[in-house]
Amino acid sequence: MAYPNPHLSRRRMLAASAAVVVSFAAASCTASPTPAPTPAGRTPTASDPWRPVAHLTAEKNWLNDPNGLIHHNGTYHAFYQYNPRANSWGNMSWGHSTSTDLVHWEQQPVAMEASGEEEIFSGCMVMDTNNASGLGSAENPPMVALYTSAYGKNGALPQGAQAQSVAYSLDGGTTWQKYRGNPVLNLAPTNNNFRDPKVFWYEPGQYWVMTTVVADAQVVKLFKSTDLLHWDYLSDFSGAGAQGGLWEVPELVQMNVDGSTAKKWVMLLSINPGGIAGGSGMQYFVGEFDGTRFTAENAASPDAPLSDSQWLDHGADYYAANSISGAPGEKPVLLGWMGNWDYAQNVPTTPWRGSMAIPRELTLVRGERRYELRSAIATAAREALERRSGEVSKKNLTVTSSIQDLGADFTARSQLIELDLDLTSSREAGLILRQSSDAKSGLRISYTKETRTVKVDRSHAGTTNFSEKFSPYHQITLPSVGSDGKVRLTILLDSSSVEVFAQDGVAVISDTFFPDWDATGSSVFSLDGDSTISVHSRPL
Ligand code: FRU
Repeated sequence: MAYPNPHLSRRRMLAASAAVVVSFAAASCTASPTPAPTPAGRTPTASDPWRPVAHLTAEKNWLNDPNGLIHHNGTYHAFYQYNPRANSWGNMSWGHSTSTDLVHWEQQPVAMEASGEEEIFSGCMVMDTNNASGLGSAENPPMVALYTSAYGKNGALPQGAQAQSVAYSLDGGTTWQKYRGNPVLNLAPTNNNFRDPKVFWYEPGQYWVMTTVVADAQVVKLFKSTDLLHWDYLSDFSGAGAQGGLWEVPELVQMNVDGSTAKKWVMLLSINPGGIAGGSGMQYFVGEFDGTRFTAENAASPDAPLSDSQWLDHGADYYAANSISGAPGEKPVLLGWMGNWDYAQNVPTTPWRGSMAIPRELTLVRGERRYELRSAIATAAREALERRSGEVSKKNLTVTSSIQDLGADFTARSQLIELDLDLTSSREAGLILRQSSDAKSGLRISYTKETRTVKVDRSHAGTTNFSEKFSPYHQITLPSVGSDGKVRLTILLDSSSVEVFAQDGVAVISDTFFPDWDATGSSVFSLDGDSTISVHSRPL
């Protein structure tokens, strides 16, 4: 069924919501029609050259936002926006994959499938340990999903309306029942852009708090509940930060301030378009939550330049990230979609389209002007990546105004790389990955000393002609760290993506790119002088 597409520009979307076309009528169902789980770990081939090895993708068909992320009985569950019928957005359902290490994912049957009455948009999942909802029992408490119902014909609400609904599983996430009283939360009058519930337990108040958005009004709405079924309005959060597009997939999370006993609340929020790298992006706000209202501190004003807002990622492909409920450790572990609505529907991969970013762990630090987030590859994922053997390194290479091929040892199509650059007397230095044998194409990751800029340039790194909006490069100026010309980058290269964590995660650039199959070279370079460069690589 084709519903109003939430990814049209705001004006087009509002117009489109008045004219909905119905084309697909599946039986309403909660159980899963898809085949048996597929084996963990896939490898790219010449006919599927961009298949990631260390990132979650669906075996086939379209995927976008991660939903219902939960760690339960030692297994990570990722549910996600999924089209079981085609390699493009539509028939939005919840796909399901599981992992024990956040790197190897096993695809499970579709958890909840779109019907003629309702598509299953983004949401979240919690364990209702005390069975407060009454949907399970004390002995077998339910796993409860909160999701957005996007209504079609003959749905519980008018066609095009969006409201929040509940589904539950009594068998650890394999099969799902929809709650009979759905929707559990609806705006009056009904709203076509009220979506993306994310719920957390607020210990001081002994209740659940839900963040949602009215996407086209740039408002986050907070509600509370003691049973996950009845929700009371708490407050709105709006009027801060970037406003240039839909606000989507919010989350409020409490974090320890690194190195102190203080705690702060962080609002994570996706915006599309209007992100820092063009199109989709994720901003965040740091402040206080008193059980009713979130108040951001030192937030950028809506008319400030985009660079005043705080961004989780400075690349083009990091969106709709949410934390994994119940993940081990103190720090939030986020899973994000590695895509951008500007061109995600056109990327040249088949028979699948869309992948998740590597799960990452957040740390909150006190910066010069305000609190800031630092990002790192999540510990479990990092450990799994580091179990791969075959590491190679070249230490303290002196590179003088030239490009130096790293040779046959550095030709893996996916690698975890530590790159140390010391721009002794040079202006710019860096690394070229997936380089073609004629050296005409390659992904260029560079650091410029004077401006302290880390840049990822994908403009000559394979196929780019699928969309005019596939932006050529992304960059970030690092704060004072790195002014001595030394910088350390952790780089996760996969078959069609790169994630660059600069200087202990002060900034991240996540970008997809679509290199030629035969382009497997790696080089380091130094411009206008000497650089000392060390590269350590682990093929994945
Ligand atoms: C974000 C989003 C959500 C929505 C879902 C639909 O990418 O637009 O707001 O619930 O995707 O697939």
